[in-house]
Amino acid sequence: MLSLEDLDPKGKTVFLRVDFNVPLDEERNIRDDTRIKAALPTINSLLEQKAKLIIASHLGRPKGKFVPELSLKPVAKRLSELISREVILAPDVIGDEVTKLKKELGEGQVLLLENVRFHDEETANDEDFARSLAQEVDYYVNDAFGTCHRAHASVVAIIRFVDKAAAGFLVEKEVDYLSQMVHSPQKPFVVILGGAKVSDKIPVIEGLLDKADDILIGGAMAYTFFKAQGLDVGRSLVEEDKIALASSLLDRIKEEKVDFYLPSDHVLAVNTDVKAEAQTTDSFPLPAAMMALDIGPKTIEKYSEIISEAKTIFWNGPMGVFEVDAFSQGTTRIAEAVANSEATSIIGGGDSVAAVYKAGVAEKISHISTGGGASLEFIAKGILPGIEALTEK
Ligand code: 3PG
Repeated sequence: MLSLEDLDPKGKTVFLRVDFNVPLDEERNIRDDTRIKAALPTINSLLEQKAKLIIASHLGRPKGKFVPELSLKPVAKRLSELISREVILAPDVIGDEVTKLKKELGEGQVLLLENVRFHDEETANDEDFARSLAQEVDYYVNDAFGTCHRAHASVVAIIRFVDKAAAGFLVEKEVDYLSQMVHSPQKPFVVILGGAKVSDKIPVIEGLLDKADDILIGGAMAYTFFKAQGLDVGRSLVEEDKIALASSLLDRIKEEKVDFYLPSDHVLAVNTDVKAEAQTTDSFPLPAAMMALDIGPKTIEKYSEIISEAKTIFWNGPMGVFEVDAFSQGTTRIAEAVANSEATSIIGGGDSVAAVYKAGVAEKISHISTGGGASLEFIAKGILPGIEALTEK
């Protein structure tokens, strides 16, 4: 895989795919510009070397239609502030007007294309669309780590139509950390998985069975596993259609060396309301009217102890409904345990990243990934379509 240093971008038109899929508030102000800032080293390097820079990103899931609320206009404004240069926002992604803007682009200038997902052909990885994206382009650079698990036209197909393709600094850094973790983690290797959906995590758990020493489960996903063991979980969130899958995974885990932990106690309430009264239990059945909303103190203690011994840690997904103070203890305390450990720690996924910031320990984490889905898929499969395409070029 080529890196930015292998390109000589002076005077060349470079198509840079980034992941500026940032959260917006109701007035379309950017709530968190981490992903824009993460691409700045690549953007600044290309501009300092006098590339003619075309930047492309998606924002949300507009499903092939022009959705004004998902225009990259706020992103263009923020990017321009961050790089102290004009950012020309194209009216579309392809077409005559865009081709004209590409042709007029000077050295050190920036053209931001509109949301690439305004065209269905993007998610279809369409060849003709990719050829149009690559029109007037010499080199392609991928710095969109958070999107590398999507085989989309601006991530994969476009590479066929450019002279050279390279990874940007962010993609390189993310792949370095995750590859090291997947292929030769320092042991003990502890994986912490939380969040609501077990379906998102099953391939990851399967991919880690022969690599991880301990897998610690929190969040609502734990209750699909409990239900799969025939336990009564009250009104806790359960993915009913995944119970059979969870059950066969539990059988498989018994055959493996990995230690697999589910919470040993639970913080319960009738709902997630801030005013809902919480109680803790360490036994089943959980009361019929209540749902589990956080891991309890015994689980926190046990998990923290395992984390303190780790040499490598991967964490994705909160331990409970951490947005509500009454149910945030588990996630906050796990964030602190990860930060205080001496392990190489990697955190991926919006909620767990938000949790380490909320707990004020983000600077103690070795690597905070910009890609939740992408980092999980990398761990499950050891490769991503976007990375594979760059490697094969
Ligand atoms: C993300 O936010 O995880 C990436 O930008 C990918 O977005 P997607 O899940 O809509 O493909």
